[in-house]
Order: sequence, then structure tokens, then C-alpha cells
Amino acid sequence: MKKYIVGFAVLIMATVLFLVNFAYEPDLLATDTNYPSYYQEKAFHSRGGIGKFYLGREIAQVMGHQAMRWLERPSRENQEHPSAVVQALELKDTDIVADIGAGTGYFSFRMAPFVSEGKVLAVDIQPEMLDVIESLKQQKQVTNIETVLGEVYDPHLPENTIDLVLMVDTYHEFAFPREMMESIFNSLKIGGRVILVEYRREDPFIMIKPLHKMTQKQVKKEMKTVGLQWVDTQEFLPQQHFIVFAKSG
Ligand SMILES: C[S@@+](CC[C@H](N)C(=O)[O-])C[C@H]1O[C@@H](n2cnc3c(N)ncnc32)[C@H](O)[C@@H]1O
Repeated sequence: MKKYIVGFAVLIMATVLFLVNFAYEPDLLATDTNYPSYYQEKAFHSRGGIGKFYLGREIAQVMGHQAMRWLERPSRENQEHPSAVVQALELKDTDIVADIGAGTGYFSFRMAPFVSEGKVLAVDIQPEMLDVIESLKQQKQVTNIETVLGEVYDPHLPENTIDLVLMVDTYHEFAFPREMMESIFNSLKIGGRVILVEYRREDPFIMIKPLHKMTQKQVKKEMKTVGLQWVDTQEFLPQQHFIVFAKSG
């Protein structure tokens, strides 16, 4: 008897966990979005996702500006080793860098001193994030960061000018990843690099929501569609991949 009660309890718990993690939005199928065929919409999807899928991956919801304090949490230093990330970028004084999905500028401000004769273009789709960067620029008297208000499908970067595009914990939130990456590709100089820092989805023990993690295989598949060449993956961070791509000649 006890065996059945335990079995029943486990079944109930598993069902609750399943239901908590998924959402059912029939409206998604009712709306005529006319997306290109590389996007699919599914009514039954993860709760943290937008119900839109790209190359087998559900796109995550955007982290709202209301949660911006999370980006500046002191524990991030230990968790994400930002100084090691910036060092691994191997920036040159004259580089023009785009920090896409810059948020509060956590990485923009760390990169700016290393591109003293160049600049950082801090791109985000939330004006509230860019307002914070502008006010921190004043406070810290930083003159080589420019904020750029992007759109969900276009970062509004000039063509053939960027040496390095950095995207930290951001790419998985792009609602239009193909269009964003095509535009990013056009903004790069020949030989320019794109570096993604993403939590490792291969590791189930990394306690980040699944849609906010990416496998290396998936990242490579998505970058290949826009013609970016994989250069290498460096695994020096405790929980994140550091994946390097380039625009070849
Ligand atoms: C989780 S935050 C990471 C911020 C920053 N990279 C950091 O590591 O502190 C992701 C940011 O990406 C931005 N974002 C999402 N989609 C975007 C898009 N299509 N273009 C530019 N920014 C985008 C969000 O507004 C948000 O500020």
C-alpha cells in the first residue's frame, strides 16, 4: 500500500513540475504572423519562452529592465569572471567594439579602457538600459562609449566598421536571431570577430533557466546560417562557453 502512495505522490509531483514549466497559448496559433519558414510558433511551450522556435530552439523572453540590478550583482564577479572575459577578448587600442544587449553596460565599461583610441557601441532595445549607461558615462567620465537604440531585428550598426561584436548572456533572447545576425555580419569588417558568452546548456547542474543556456552545437549551427566561421571555443569560465566566430574574407 505504502509503495502505491509513494508512487502516486511522485506522479503528482512530476505532473505539477511539468505544468509549472510549460505554458499553453492557443492564441499563438490563431495570430497570422507571416514569419519566414525558419521560425515556428508553438502553442505548447516553455514558460520562460516566447513560443517561437528557431532551428529547434525556443527563444527566451527578454530580461526586462526592471531586473537590471541583477546584472550588477556583486556575486557576478565570482560567477562570471568578467575580467577574464575582457582579457580573453584581446582588444586593441583602436578597436571598434559593439556590445549587443549591453544592459547596464556591465561589459561596455570594462572594455572601454582597452579601446582608448577606438570606442564601444553599447546596443540595447530597452531605452531604460541605455539611460543607465548614459548616466554612468557621466559619473565615471567615460567618453568612448556610444549608446545605440536597436530594434528586435536590427542593431542599427554601420556597415563594415566593427572589429568585435560581444554578446554576453544575450543572444538566446533575440526574437529575430537570423535577422539580427545577418545585420551583425554586415556590420563587421572582414576578419572581424563575434564572441558569444552563454551558460552551458550541456551541464544540467548549472542552475540557470534552460532557455537562458545554450549548447555549443546549437550556437555553431545558428552562426553558420549567416556565414560566420567558427574559430574556437574557450572553456576558461566556471559556467559559460566563450565561443569565437569570424567573418572571413
Ligand atoms: C540578460 S541581459 C544581459 C546584459 C549584458 N550583456 C550583461 O551581460 O550584463 C540581455 C540584454 O539583451 C537585450 N536584448 C534582447 N534582445 C535584443 C536585441 N534584439 N537587440 C539588442 N539587445 C537585445 C535586453 O534588452 C537585455 O538588456
